[in-house]
Amino acid sequence: MNIIGTGCAHPSLTVTNEMLSGFLDTSDEWITTRTGIKKRQLISDERLEDLATEAATKALENAGVAAEDLDYIICSNVINEYITPSLSCILQGKIGANSPCVDLNGACAGFIYALDIANSFFKSKDIKNILIVCAEEPTRMVDWNQRNTCVLFGDGAGAVVLSRGEDVMAIKLTAVSKPEPLYQMRKLEHTPFINKEEPDGPLVMKGQDVFKLAVESSKNDINSVIDECDLSYNDVNYYLLHQANIRIIDTIRNTLQQDESKFPHNIEKYGNTSSASIPILLDELNRDKKLKKGDKLVLSAFGAGFVAGACLLKWSKE
Ligand code: COA
Repeated sequence: MNIIGTGCAHPSLTVTNEMLSGFLDTSDEWITTRTGIKKRQLISDERLEDLATEAATKALENAGVAAEDLDYIICSNVINEYITPSLSCILQGKIGANSPCVDLNGACAGFIYALDIANSFFKSKDIKNILIVCAEEPTRMVDWNQRNTCVLFGDGAGAVVLSRGEDVMAIKLTAVSKPEPLYQMRKLEHTPFINKEEPDGPLVMKGQDVFKLAVESSKNDINSVIDECDLSYNDVNYYLLHQANIRIIDTIRNTLQQDESKFPHNIEKYGNTSSASIPILLDELNRDKKLKKGDKLVLSAFGAGFVAGACLLKWSKE
């Protein structure tokens, strides 16, 4: 499987740390030093489906693939305005495709899970092109009075078009059922028959527990894909990590003893955009012509579950 096109889309509203300190007991200094985030793009008047459509359209253009030539659409998404139908089905109509489509919720690791599913589809089906769109609005999950969570997130969408090939060399996925450090539960519609307590509320996060789980799982997954391909850390040109916290990225980089330039990041501009963060970063590197043919990339993400995954791939796009 090869990545032949990338795209991304951001909401128009920029919210800086200074703007947050106008209504929260926080500061640019605290947010910058603890997370690396300076600003984020937040949904205000947009709909997530429109961001997904923009990212998908750009990825298709970049790949030179027409929407009607797509054989499958996979959307990675945690929440959006529709419970049903799926975001991928909404998107299918908006871009003018006619393929089957499915959504998955792999939390912030959703892009790696989607890559794994796409890879299996190429092996099991007679298909040519798959579109993955990761579209997320985590800022609608948090309580905007809770400074420990709301400052971390941003909204956005990232997309890739995939075709047959040998570029994806290894994928490792892990999941441990451990919701306590990071979860959100919401009340469903009432029925006359419900007689249980129903939890409801914003995202709950034990930051330090999540930090440790993230570092541990990412290190293990990276080691796993590198070992599987008989490579060393030095053989990898770029490590694209989930953009959750610059300190998580730095901790992993220090363990791997690799140069800072190998860990591109954009968390300072967008915050944590959940599963969209890696495809957004990949699109930036692709469009800025930073990736050379033959470069080896490791993608690594982690999120609520606790789920995680890494992918090692060769870049062959000109
Ligand atoms: N502004 C100012 N102070 C804040 C704050 C904010 N936005 N958020 C928390 N604080 C305060 C806390 O209340 C605490 O105050 P106290 O010492 O008086 O109790 C203090 O800062 C330290 O809080 P702590 O939670 O120990 O900070 P931390 O160094 O662990 O950083 C996170 C907090 C959330 C930035 C960090 O734990 C983290 O990034 N964890 C991973 C989160 C993540 O990646 N989630 C998504 C995964 S997909």
